[in-house]
Amino acid sequence: MANSKKSMHGAWSSRFTFILAATGSAVGLGNIWKFPYIVGENGGGAFVVVYLLCVVAIGIPIMMAETMLGRRGGQCPINTIKSLAKEAGAHENWKYLGWMGTIAGFLILSYYSVIAGWSLSYVLKAFTGSFSGESAAQINTLFVELKASQGEQIFWHTVFIGATMSVVAKGVEGGIEKAVRFLMPGLFVLLFLLVAYAMTTGYYTEGLKFLFQPDFSELTASSVLTAMGHAFFTLSLGMGAIMVYGSYLPKDISIAKTVFWIAGADTAVALLAGMAIFPIVFSNGLEASAGEGLIFQILPIAFGNMTGGWLFGVLFFVLLVFAALSSAISLIEPAVAWYIEKFKVARTQACITMGGVVWLMGLGTVFSFNSWADVTFFGLTFFGFLDFLTANLMLPLGGFLIAIFAGRVMHSHHAKEELDLKTDQHFEVWMFLVKYIAPAAVFLVFLGVLGVFG
Ligand code: PFF
Repeated sequence: MANSKKSMHGAWSSRFTFILAATGSAVGLGNIWKFPYIVGENGGGAFVVVYLLCVVAIGIPIMMAETMLGRRGGQCPINTIKSLAKEAGAHENWKYLGWMGTIAGFLILSYYSVIAGWSLSYVLKAFTGSFSGESAAQINTLFVELKASQGEQIFWHTVFIGATMSVVAKGVEGGIEKAVRFLMPGLFVLLFLLVAYAMTTGYYTEGLKFLFQPDFSELTASSVLTAMGHAFFTLSLGMGAIMVYGSYLPKDISIAKTVFWIAGADTAVALLAGMAIFPIVFSNGLEASAGEGLIFQILPIAFGNMTGGWLFGVLFFVLLVFAALSSAISLIEPAVAWYIEKFKVARTQACITMGGVVWLMGLGTVFSFNSWADVTFFGLTFFGFLDFLTANLMLPLGGFLIAIFAGRVMHSHHAKEELDLKTDQHFEVWMFLVKYIAPAAVFLVFLGVLGVFG
């Protein structure tokens, strides 16, 4: 029986380790790089409100569903869904849900690694004192030059993919647990420091107003889609990353409590990043809607101007790289676990093959910032298109199907047994959210973008 099997890829030593690994997956570039720039592009507060609503009403219940499915299935997402569909007497086509997620992780990692590469290059820039005493314009030039340089981006992209694959090659009990233990506290300390700096700029209130004061007239259907997509992206949902980690989760552990911790920590990091960045944006007379370079154009200004900024800059970008690494691992783990189960090969070999393909695809993202800057797919650059396809379409669609599967396809007594919530009422609330609210919300947002509501 599926639920009596221990995962063939290993198991977490404790609940705390699962929390660490899943938090490591959730907290990443999405929180510190992506959240601020999409908030900036989508007008601030109202976008943040929609994002927070999505985290609570869609993200948390789906994260519980994914963890639960993973633990019950005990294999890679593709095989987990396949065997749980069989257990429920459902059609075997459900396996395509596992496929879509695995491919989404793959596609995301290809551009994620390029951005993580930018962060690596900023570690070096911070280390060599490139930010100290520089004006906002000079800091901006550094970023423009990086984006123009294929060689530099490919170099750091290669380093990052190499690092990711070597951690994944060691298996789930290897590097992940240790890395996250010092990563999270360190990240919080540096973000608090940056927020403290932001308070000295004279524009702190203005920054907070932008982030937290909703102006719903700013909201469009497409920004609602971006906010919802980001709730999935930031919590690592809809593609099987949390499912694959759930498959290593021992049976006696409360899924609900665990999930609240992870979602809480993830949201806190994103909001702190926003609180640090926007005051600095406004105090330098810059645009919040600058796009994907925002943190690289803004935070170095702070590091260049504070005492000891050199050291804090190095520490910050090092931590950002580690946060990206602990997410990257989970982006590729479903594909690696599938490859091992399918071809019965060693982990190392699976990692080399998968890493090679992802690396190659990443070149498309590098080129989209320079020689392919004018090449567009549906009006978006290669990078923009990949990001839209994965974060705004594949993850929400995956989440929608996961909610349907957990709420409607799987026998509810199996879900109940696996989730093991404190009271029946808690289970009913969860069931209501995955059965009705989460799928309806995703569906309505998709309809909204298609212009159905005018
Ligand atoms: N949650 C990660 C972040 O916010 O950076 C990105 C991510 C990791 C998305 C794993 C999806 C995933 F499955």
